[in-house]
Amino acid sequence: MWLKNSAAALLLQALGASATWSAYQEYLSHLPAHTSKHQAAQPKISFSPNQPFEPLPKSTARGKNCYVQSHNDFKTDDSPYILDALHQCNNGGRAIFPQGTTYVIGTALDLTFLQHIDIQIQGYIQFTNDTDYWQKNAFYQTFQNATTFFQLGGEDVNVYGGGMLDGNGQVWYDLYAKNIYILRPILFGTIGLCSGAISDLNLRYSPQYYNFVANSTDVVFSNLTISGYSQSNNTAKNTDGWDTYRSSNVVIQNSVINNGDDCVSFKPNSTEILVQNLHCNGSHGISVGSLGQYVGQVDIVENVLVQNIQMSNATDGARIKVWPGSPSALSGDLQGGGGSGRVNNITYLDMSIANVDYAIEVTQCYGQKNLTLCNQFPSSLTINDVTMTNIHGTTSTKYQPISGYVVCSDPKVCSNITLNEIAVVSPNGVENEFTCGAVDQSLLHGINCTTINKGSN
Ligand SMILES: *[C@@H]1O[C@H](CO)[C@@H](O)[C@H](O)[C@H]1NC(C)=O
Ligand SMILES: *[C@@H]1O[C@H](CO)[C@@H](O)[C@H](O)[C@H]1NC(C)=O
Ligand SMILES: *[C@@H]1O[C@H](CO)[C@@H](O)[C@H](O)[C@H]1NC(C)=O
Ligand SMILES: *[C@@H]1O[C@H](CO)[C@@H](O)[C@H](O)[C@H]1NC(C)=O
Ligand SMILES: *[C@@H]1O[C@H](CO)[C@@H](O)[C@H](O)[C@H]1NC(C)=O
Ligand SMILES: *[C@@H]1O[C@H](CO)[C@@H](O)[C@H](O)[C@H]1NC(C)=O
Ligand SMILES: *[C@@H]1O[C@H](CO)[C@@H](O)[C@H](O)[C@H]1NC(C)=O
Ligand SMILES: *[C@@H]1O[C@H](CO)[C@@H](O)[C@H](O)[C@H]1NC(C)=O
Ligand SMILES: *[C@@H]1O[C@H](CO)[C@@H](O)[C@H](O)[C@H]1NC(C)=O
Ligand SMILES: *[C@@H]1O[C@H](CO)[C@@H](O)[C@H](O)[C@H]1NC(C)=O
Ligand SMILES: *[C@@H]1O[C@H](CO)[C@@H](O)[C@H](O)[C@H]1NC(C)=O
Ligand SMILES: *[C@@H]1O[C@H](CO)[C@@H](O)[C@H](O)[C@H]1NC(C)=O
Repeated sequence: MWLKNSAAALLLQALGASATWSAYQEYLSHLPAHTSKHQAAQPKISFSPNQPFEPLPKSTARGKNCYVQSHNDFKTDDSPYILDALHQCNNGGRAIFPQGTTYVIGTALDLTFLQHIDIQIQGYIQFTNDTDYWQKNAFYQTFQNATTFFQLGGEDVNVYGGGMLDGNGQVWYDLYAKNIYILRPILFGTIGLCSGAISDLNLRYSPQYYNFVANSTDVVFSNLTISGYSQSNNTAKNTDGWDTYRSSNVVIQNSVINNGDDCVSFKPNSTEILVQNLHCNGSHGISVGSLGQYVGQVDIVENVLVQNIQMSNATDGARIKVWPGSPSALSGDLQGGGGSGRVNNITYLDMSIANVDYAIEVTQCYGQKNLTLCNQFPSSLTINDVTMTNIHGTTSTKYQPISGYVVCSDPKVCSNITLNEIAVVSPNGVENEFTCGAVDQSLLHGINCTTINKGSN
């Protein structure tokens, strides 16, 4: 029996058979038979096969413990209790959300004041379904109109504990189907964090991306699970695992992601990013970009290493998407092109794919179906020094017999894209058949290119 106590039984009665119920049920199923008000040890995070680009600063000692109170009734906002505990234990303590306890967050929490604190989330936290409130009050992060339920920042903050954050996404998936311009909050906003670790947590049903990491440095994400499918006919859209933005020296590792958009995405000004040991299922791959969306802006993604990825049921494996020089549109709420900057020193190593549309997709014509137009106005965002090595497995039937796509807008703005040890096969048995354009094909080792556009030269 998965019901651990009578309080839980009462809560479930109140919930009925909703999406909420399934996340909470999953949380309960992982609880030990007897829950206790114990303190979890700070996880020791190790790095393999690669170390972070820069060593991560060590945390200072933590003394005091603050147990976060809760109404534990699945409806009353517990935000005041949460803020109390965080303030009390800031500067050297631990705020503890005990095992088996449920919390409701119905207030946008600005947690950028945090300093030298551990936040142990052993309990279950659910964000309210009040879409009107969140649309007015979630933190606006400017980039792609992103908003977050909370913003966690400051210095030397560790969040861990084995608990669950539930974004109550269903109501958002259904609302988005009616209006694509609503602002859906991101579940976990890491905004302006200088050094910290987010680990051993379960993230469920985010309304939009699961993680947005902005203005942050020296941050590691490790041992997270991400999941949440819509239970109606309205699919959960834009549920990226992580988007990094204006951030440096970030590690994302040892995690399992079940989602429906980018597994990890490197947005403008992501540098020194290490991604390793991920299982991604159902995603749009591990993506650089999209970049160059906004005229007048300079977007830089540089020094990125991605290694040991299992990619299943995805549109892409390794992906670089750059908008061309001409205005282009993918959809009503996704338009752009003409921005400048650079993609430089990007390495993908050891990726196995299964049922993936394109094993590799590099485009400098994102959002522009007319390639003549793309060549006429080459991207002012350059792509240089990209290496992809040991990518293997089977694609889907979607583009069969093609299993990859490397199309620049002009060789002048796109150099040293090198492929090695690629062994990707279409379901019909054709191996390494790619669409190529405006790219130095002598560096695409072992690839059989069908050339579609030559670019100017
Ligand atoms: C929102 O949550 C409240 C309780 O927290 C519940 O009574 C209500 O039915 C939910 N609304 C929707 C649309 O799910
Ligand atoms: C990051 O910092 C800049 C400069 O202080 C600020 O303008 C911006 O709002 C911050 N947040 C994000 C998400 O960029
Ligand atoms: C942000 O939302 C506004 C209003 O809905 C829309 O016009 C604009 O295109 C959106 N911007 C981005 C970057 O998505
Ligand atoms: C990962 O986190 C879970 C809790 O979500 C924990 O039980 C498990 O021990 C962690 N695994 C590692 C390798 O640390
Ligand atoms: C969901 O889609 C299926 C198949 O198109 C349809 O039979 C069903 O009625 C739809 N359900 C709802 C609630 O719209
Ligand atoms: C992978 O994603 C598909 C949906 O795309 C889902 O049906 C399946 O259960 C997922 N696999 C795992 C292991 O979670
Ligand atoms: C990215 O960095 C470049 C170069 O420093 C800067 O010009 C640009 O404004 C930055 N963009 C963002 C979104 O911070
Ligand atoms: C390029 O990235 C690699 C990791 O893939 C890193 O070791 C190297 O230092 C980077 N090069 C520069 C010039 O930063
Ligand atoms: C891919 O999706 C199918 C169902 O669509 C699922 O059975 C399979 O487990 C998924 N693969 C992985 C590795 O999750
Ligand atoms: C593509 O763009 C070119 C150049 O502007 C134009 O002549 C051509 O008609 C366009 N093709 C299509 C299919 O729209
Ligand atoms: C090509 O890029 C890789 C990094 O991805 C780099 O190590 C190598 O030196 C570059 N080659 C040339 C000729 O610039
Ligand atoms: C490359 O593709 C062409 C055209 O489809 C085909 O005839 C040829 O056998 C392929 N070569 C290899 C090495 O697969």
